[in-house]
Amino acid sequence: MIGDVIKNNYDYTTSGREKIPLMIEQKNRAIIVGTGMATPKRILTNSELEKIVDTSNQWILSRTGIRERRILEDDHGCSDLAVEAAMVALREAGLEVSELELIIVSTVTPDYPTPSTACLVQDKLGARNAAAFDLSAGCTGFVYAMASAQGFISSGVYSNALVIGAEVLSRVTNWNDRSTCVLFGDGAGAVVLQKGDSGRGIIDFSLKSDGGGAELLYIPAGGSRKPASEESVAKHLHSVRMNGNEIFKFAVRVVDNVLEELLTRQGIKAEMLDYLFLHQANERIIEHIRKSIHLTPEKVPINLDRYGNTSSASVPMIMHEEAAAGRLKKNDLVALVAFGAGLTWGGVLLRW
Ligand code: UT7
Repeated sequence: MIGDVIKNNYDYTTSGREKIPLMIEQKNRAIIVGTGMATPKRILTNSELEKIVDTSNQWILSRTGIRERRILEDDHGCSDLAVEAAMVALREAGLEVSELELIIVSTVTPDYPTPSTACLVQDKLGARNAAAFDLSAGCTGFVYAMASAQGFISSGVYSNALVIGAEVLSRVTNWNDRSTCVLFGDGAGAVVLQKGDSGRGIIDFSLKSDGGGAELLYIPAGGSRKPASEESVAKHLHSVRMNGNEIFKFAVRVVDNVLEELLTRQGIKAEMLDYLFLHQANERIIEHIRKSIHLTPEKVPINLDRYGNTSSASVPMIMHEEAAAGRLKKNDLVALVAFGAGLTWGGVLLRW
C-alpha cells in the first residue's frame, strides 16, 4: 500500500476547476478579527535528541531546518494548549465568550478519543452558546476548519466562530524512531472569525483528498481496526509512521497545484500575494515552493526552526506571529496552504 499514490502516478492537477469563476460573496465573508497561539515552556533541542537517538544537530538542521521544538508537560492535554491560544485570540477580537456560536478544533491528538477536544474547550472557556466539534484532516486540518467555518458563516446560521489548530504530537512520537522523532513538536494556534461585508475575509478556498495514500502517514493502532493491546504497545503502533520521501514529493507537487488553482480562479498573480503561510513541515519544502513562485522570504515566513512540525497548529501559529509583530497588515492578500495525512491538502485565500 505504501507508495501506491506515487506508483499509480496519481494525477494531482486540478482538472479544470481552476477555470470555474467562484468567489465567496462579499457580504458572507468570514474575517479574522483575532489571532492567538500557545506553546509549552519545555524546549527540546537537537543536541538533547543526539543523546536519545542516533542523530546529529547537523543532520536535523540541514535536512529539515529544525533547531528545537516544544514538549507539553505531563498531565496536560491538547485542550489546555487550545484554550490558551483561544483566549489570546478572543482578547484581541474583543469578543465576549458568550457571543461565540461555533468552535472547531482541528487536531490529530485530541485529549480523548471521545468526546471532542472542542467540547472541552467550550467548557473551559464557558462558551455556553457555542456548537463545538473536532475536525481531523492531518496537517491540513486548520485549512479545512477555516473553510468549514466559512461555510457555516455563509449559510447565515452563525456569525462568530473560533477556529483552533492544536496538537500534542510528542504523545504520538516513537522516541526510538529517528526518522520521525526529530520532526514534531507541540503547540496551538487560534483565530476568531466574524461575518463582515467590508471586502476583507475569506475570498475562496480549495480542499483536496486522496485516501489512497493513507498509509504514507498514519498511526496504525488505537482505532477500531487495531485497538490497543499489549502487542500494539510493544510494537509502537500508537506512534506516527511516515514515509518521509514520498510525503516530501507529494507536498512539493500539491502545494503548487492548489495555489495555482486559487490564484487562477481569482485572476491573481503570485507576486500580488503579501503573505503565503505554508504548513511548517520542512524548510526545504517551503523554500522550494517560495522560489518556484518567486516570492521574497519575508512573504513566506518560517518558524519551524523554533517549533518543529506542529501539524495543524503550524499555519495559525505562524500567522499569529506575523500579526502580533505588526507585519501582517489590514487588507494584505494572504494565502494559507497545507498538506498532510489523509492524504489531504488545501488552501484558503483571504484579505486580512
Ligand atoms: O507534516 C506532515 C507532512 N510531513 C512532511 O512533509 C515530511 C516530509 N518529508 C521530509 O521532511 C523528509 O523526507 C525527512 C526530513 C522526513 C527526511 O529527509 P530525507 O532527506 O528525505 O531523508 P531520508 O528519509 O531519505 O533519509 C536519508 C538518510 C537515511 O540513511 P541512509 O539510508 O541514506 O544511510 C536515513 O536513515 O538519513 C537517515 N536518517 C537520519 N540520520 C540522522 C533519517 N533520519 C535521520 C536522523 N538523523 N534523524
